[in-house]
Amino acid sequence: MATIKAAILGFGTVGQGIYHILNEKREELREKLGVELEVAKILVTDASRERVPGTKHLMTENIDEVLAEKGLQVVFEAIVNEEPAYTYLKRAVEHKCHVITANKVMFAKRGTELQDLAKKNGVFVGYEATVAGGVPVIKTMKNILLVNDVSRIQGILNGTTNYILTKMRGEGWSFDKALSEAQRLGYAEADPYNDVSGQDAFKKLMVLSSLAFGEQPDWSEVEVIGIDTISTEAVKEATAKGLRYRHVAQVDKLSDGRIVGKVEPILVDSEHPLYPIDDVFNAVTMETNYIGTLTLVGPGAGMYPTASVMVEDYAEIIGKRAGFVVSI
Ligand code: NAP
Ligand code: HSE
Repeated sequence: MATIKAAILGFGTVGQGIYHILNEKREELREKLGVELEVAKILVTDASRERVPGTKHLMTENIDEVLAEKGLQVVFEAIVNEEPAYTYLKRAVEHKCHVITANKVMFAKRGTELQDLAKKNGVFVGYEATVAGGVPVIKTMKNILLVNDVSRIQGILNGTTNYILTKMRGEGWSFDKALSEAQRLGYAEADPYNDVSGQDAFKKLMVLSSLAFGEQPDWSEVEVIGIDTISTEAVKEATAKGLRYRHVAQVDKLSDGRIVGKVEPILVDSEHPLYPIDDVFNAVTMETNYIGTLTLVGPGAGMYPTASVMVEDYAEIIGKRAGFVVSI
């Protein structure tokens, strides 16, 4: 049986999740895909610290060492920020590796470039994990777009902020306590400012805009307001009136072709579809011409939901290569 060698770039919450799922599902993946998968290298910034027992020999701090691995075919990327992530993935694609990323900061800005480069090199880019954690919004939208036009995307795209708002309302926690807990649970970004300021939801919205409309709004024209402006008192007042804060990202294609987006906290009442979406859950609503309105709901962050969609991307890519999966 053929062996596929993979590397994992970044071995924090998401990277470790990928490693665990690949191990736990090794036999099933082998049976379903007809190939054996071997994690051959793991890239971190500090290779002296063993995060998962039995992985020390796989760890390196040097991307050259990763790409020099003979027979490397798949690179999972779960590091942070645009660089060096983009450069590493560009090099991986030029080495004819399929790449699967969770990094929305990099992908919002460089996704189109990376996908064009991948096409030229005959490899695939999986990016389901860049938006809404374990919710399969990218593959669903790709399918919908085969037949439909999408005119609006609206949703809760950040698990950390939804978790914080839920705990402030339901448990009476302070903002700081709820944020620390979101960090402990592995929901928050390495720099949680990206979550609470709305920047993380904004990057995800831009990834969705590129996919749905083939373009993004001018970033400087998108108003991005975080939840860092919402006090415990404001949450209490809203709750007393039967309202809930939701941090909502929205992008529209207008009839004149302009693309407009915004990210902001809004108050919703019990009639609103986002009212029941609590905790780390995300919800993404797409307005389409034939299907009508479709909403996907699920866990928007965390080790296993995120890693699961990355391993699904891997399975889809390997299946597609073997000619039995069509949607990537
Ligand atoms: P994390 O726990 O902070 O882990 C980041 C990992 O990347 C660490 O192992 C770190 O190495 C490594 N790293 C960072 N910069 C690096 C560099 N320049 N070279 C080599 N390694 C580097 O972060 P995470 O939560 O797993 O998130 C990873 C990515 O997935 C981010 O882009 C994030 O936005 C995205 N994402 C996260 C979630 C989630 O629920 N956490 C969900 C969807 C997408 P050290 O261990 O040596 O510090
Ligand atoms: N920090 C992000 C969130 C991780 O809370 O939604 C998932 O992208």
